[in-house]
Amino acid sequence: MGDVAYINGTFCELSQARVSVEDRGFQFADSVYEGITTYRREPFLLTEHLRRLRNSARAIHLPIPLSDERITELVREGVRRSGYDEVHIYMQLTRGAASRSHPFPAGAEPTVVMTFKAAIRVPADVRAQGVSVMSRPDNRWGSCNVKSVMLLPNVLAKQEALDRGAYDALFVGPDQVVYEASSSNVFLVRAGEVWTPQRSDKILPGITCDYIVESLPRLGILGGGRLVYLDDLLAADEVFLAGTTTETLGVVSIDGKMIGDGQVGPVTRRLYEELFASLTR
Ligand SMILES: Cc1ncc(COP(=O)(O)O)c(C=O)c1O
Repeated sequence: MGDVAYINGTFCELSQARVSVEDRGFQFADSVYEGITTYRREPFLLTEHLRRLRNSARAIHLPIPLSDERITELVREGVRRSGYDEVHIYMQLTRGAASRSHPFPAGAEPTVVMTFKAAIRVPADVRAQGVSVMSRPDNRWGSCNVKSVMLLPNVLAKQEALDRGAYDALFVGPDQVVYEASSSNVFLVRAGEVWTPQRSDKILPGITCDYIVESLPRLGILGGGRLVYLDDLLAADEVFLAGTTTETLGVVSIDGKMIGDGQVGPVTRRLYEELFASLTR
């Protein structure tokens, strides 16, 4: 019971988990990952997360040594072993440990790591009040559609936002095209319609983003993906962030400019209620 890790075939307490200093995930960010949450202890959208993991691994030519069925069994076992009510599952796959040299190492076994910790949701008061974000130039690599652990620009952007009193940073291209936040996708609401920046290699194909977009017809809401400029966000009725940990989180100001009436809007609240809060009731 407690934080649990799985490393290459073995479960242990997270505090006991170790990987080599020569692991290529550590030395080269030669690695992809997934973050998954549970609702009622059931891994949410696991099939979709595993599909994206395979897409990311394929993009960096990394073979996954386990079948989806086996990974699913391990995920369920980790959730059970942790004993937590709701679990955050982190899954990382690296090209393995090998003497440090740039080419893919011959014969190295991929490192498979999973961790199982108590899921931490956004506090209710933060969700009710909404958050402020700042925009910043995108200085990430050109394949942000791959869920790789090359997250240094994301880490620096998040810290810069926090240091400036904002909750998160939005990556914006030189042409003022909006991509995403440091660890979530972004949506705008305008005249009742719900739009998110269209997919590109500057945007992670968010599982939560897809879940929201695919739910819109059922909720009688128009929307989907399209080109979004920073000015579109500033002129929107509502803006919100979306991700596995974030769920939906209203944005009430960007770069100090108020969005809508400066409160979390009705569409953002409705989407949270219908698509996330209802999963735990
Ligand atoms: C850069 C980035 N964008 C978007 C997301 C949201 O993706 P998901 O909904 O699959 O959690 C994440 C999640 O970690 C992310 O890191």
